[in-house]
Amino acid sequence: MAYKVMGVTAGRKNSNSEILLKEALSVCAEAGAEITFVNLHDYNILDCTGCTSCTIGMGQGKNVGCVLDEKDDKKKLMEAIFAQDAVIYSVPTYDLMPNAMYLRFAQRSLAFETAFLERIGAIEHKDRIAGLIAVGGSTRSWQSMALEGLQATMFTTDMKVVDMILATKVPGPGQCLLDDELMARAHKMGENIMTAIQTPPAERKWLGEEDMGWCPNCHSNALILGEPQWDGIHYEIECAVCGAGGTLEKTEDGKWKFVIAENGLYKDRTDLEGRTRHVIEIGENQGGFFANPENLAKVAARRKKYEAMQFKGV
Ligand SMILES: Cc1cc2nc3c(=O)[nH]c(=O)nc-3n(C[C@H](O)[C@H](O)[C@H](O)COP(=O)(O)O)c2cc1C
Repeated sequence: MAYKVMGVTAGRKNSNSEILLKEALSVCAEAGAEITFVNLHDYNILDCTGCTSCTIGMGQGKNVGCVLDEKDDKKKLMEAIFAQDAVIYSVPTYDLMPNAMYLRFAQRSLAFETAFLERIGAIEHKDRIAGLIAVGGSTRSWQSMALEGLQATMFTTDMKVVDMILATKVPGPGQCLLDDELMARAHKMGENIMTAIQTPPAERKWLGEEDMGWCPNCHSNALILGEPQWDGIHYEIECAVCGAGGTLEKTEDGKWKFVIAENGLYKDRTDLEGRTRHVIEIGENQGGFFANPENLAKVAARRKKYEAMQFKGV
């Protein structure tokens, strides 16, 4: 059976994100993969309402779906994504980060939280990989959260990112076609995706540039100063994306390097086990909020003041 590879973009029609994505997909097609291509501009995607009825249902062992399932195209697209072996996301950078059209789509994935759905037997486990392309008019400096923002949306559906491209300095529609190196790199992503697909899941590894980004774990380029976490763990420096913890050290050639601590991958968000620790944190942070009638009564009483507070809109 042919491998399935899907491309998802939120860029302008026939422009940079689409073209780079199609270049990568063409390699997969040539290698015999069955290709699906989706530009989110052609679909209706509503905002997550924040109701959390999906996860409340999952907590009770049921797949209740999303309250918007019948109202837009998210479910149809997720069913297609779940059927894939690999998905390549290619998204324009707006205001330093992935554009809103993509984020709206991605932030509707809570109802499709694969680990939960697998645990309650609603879906079968399948190892899937992802390639990420962020496309902007500027250099890295004005795309500082672009790939990182895309990476952050991979956890909910448990996609293993094996390659990433930051496409810089392509503001004009289709301008990437003037950059042979960039087009070749997109071609290479197609090759990397096919290599990863044909590798047993446990042996799949990062295939992008070895020295990409600060973080040797997820290759993000974003570090933050650590603060004590809910369970007392405190790293000096954390990766903003995967949560790896460690410190900065100077190498022999005088460059700074992020070195992950011995227990630094304890809450690795790219890993199911690490992410599961966040579920414990959510429970801790809620502190029995929903189960304690005293809390609920206190909030109801204090909320009245804010309900009564009215300001003019526009
Ligand atoms: C609202 C808006 C905000 C943008 N913000 C950024 C930005 O912060 N950084 C950047 O590098 N490019 C930015 N751009 C430029 C686009 O990322 C660039 O034109 C890109 O090629 C669009 O991809 P597309 O051709 O696939 O649509 C912005 C464009 C728009 C329309």
